[in-house]
Amino acid sequence: MTQPSHKALVPFVSVDNMMRLIHHIGIEPMLRELAGYIEEDFKRWELFDKTPRVASHSDVGVIELMPTSDGEAYGFKYVNGHPKNTREGLQTVTAFGLLADVHTGYPVLLTEMTILTAMRTAAMSALAARYLAPRDARVMAMIGNGAQSEFQCLAFHALCGVETVRLYDTDPAATAKTARNLAKTALSVVPCTSPEEAIEGAQIITTCTADKQYATILTDNMVGSGVHINAIGGDCPGKTELAPAILKRSDIFVEYPEQTRIEGEIQQMPADHPVTELWQVITGQAKGRRDARAITLFDSVGFAIEDFSALRYIRDRIKGTDMFEPLDMLADPDDPRDLFGMVQRAKV
Ligand SMILES: NC(=O)c1ccc[n+]([C@@H]2O[C@H](COP(=O)([O-])OP(=O)(O)OC[C@H]3O[C@@H](n4cnc5c(N)ncnc54)[C@H](O)[C@@H]3O)[C@@H](O)[C@H]2O)c1
Repeated sequence: MTQPSHKALVPFVSVDNMMRLIHHIGIEPMLRELAGYIEEDFKRWELFDKTPRVASHSDVGVIELMPTSDGEAYGFKYVNGHPKNTREGLQTVTAFGLLADVHTGYPVLLTEMTILTAMRTAAMSALAARYLAPRDARVMAMIGNGAQSEFQCLAFHALCGVETVRLYDTDPAATAKTARNLAKTALSVVPCTSPEEAIEGAQIITTCTADKQYATILTDNMVGSGVHINAIGGDCPGKTELAPAILKRSDIFVEYPEQTRIEGEIQQMPADHPVTELWQVITGQAKGRRDARAITLFDSVGFAIEDFSALRYIRDRIKGTDMFEPLDMLADPDDPRDLFGMVQRAKV
């Protein structure tokens, strides 16, 4: 068998290597660095190709493709969302992604993105909160203690200075798991037995539950003035977390309105309900938090540019390391037009 040429090889980051990279960099430094890459890309938002993600729905979940390009590189993520999966011993969300060179169309990176999605979602949430949450926020309620939850908690510690997290999940075993995993971190962890108890004294409320329905994780009377809500779990048509009355009282910030109106909390509101695009807050073109009494809501659904930033970050960070494998992924015949001949010569 002939060895593939260097042109055939694409760096591949496996789950194992992604975990090595996280431990090599440190989880909180990596969350901060990822947030830096996302912030950089939000500052050049206008030059990206943008489209709502391409979703294929079934009765039990969704499979989505999330493409974008900045003209130099092109990226996409494949991601699913299947809330019933955990009962079968599977993840609700799995993902992988690819980055390519626009000039040749050749892929330059293939990577696992299940872990990377949790990292980038947490980095995005905490970055948004840095612009929107009360400056002195030190306590966060973390409602939904599944796969994303520890990443969210650590990002708010690393980027926003949150010191205490108050955990709640309908499944006490999930809360116990998150509490156990956060026990050796700098965070104070308070397991709670109701959502009302979890939000006591919290200036930031993160909702990160998974259920394929119009759920009401927070009712109107639970949300007082001056808080920041980081709503992560409502990210599909027919899948929301907040009572509509909360949306009416909140200043709502979104990633890409065309996608959020389909998938986010605001799918419950009229199509012209006012929202502010987060990139405009980050570039200083729009105001974030108006005053101490405002309720700010980051209606997060996850947008392709965040994954592009994460892919760019991994491409840069694996350079000079052994934390990837060269994957024989691109056919490379000696004569570019002799693809068939290459196949023929491979016959043993
Ligand atoms: N916005 C984004 O960018 C983004 C990114 C990744 C995941 N998500 C979404 O975040 C959600 C969580 O993802 P995950 O991977 O942690 O899922 P997961 O299934 O691992 O965890 C979800 C948790 O929510 C709990 N839960 C369900 N209903 C609840 C309720 N009414 N009150 C309290 N807890 C409840 C479940 O018991 C479970 O522990 C999913 O809906 C996913 O689609 C959004």
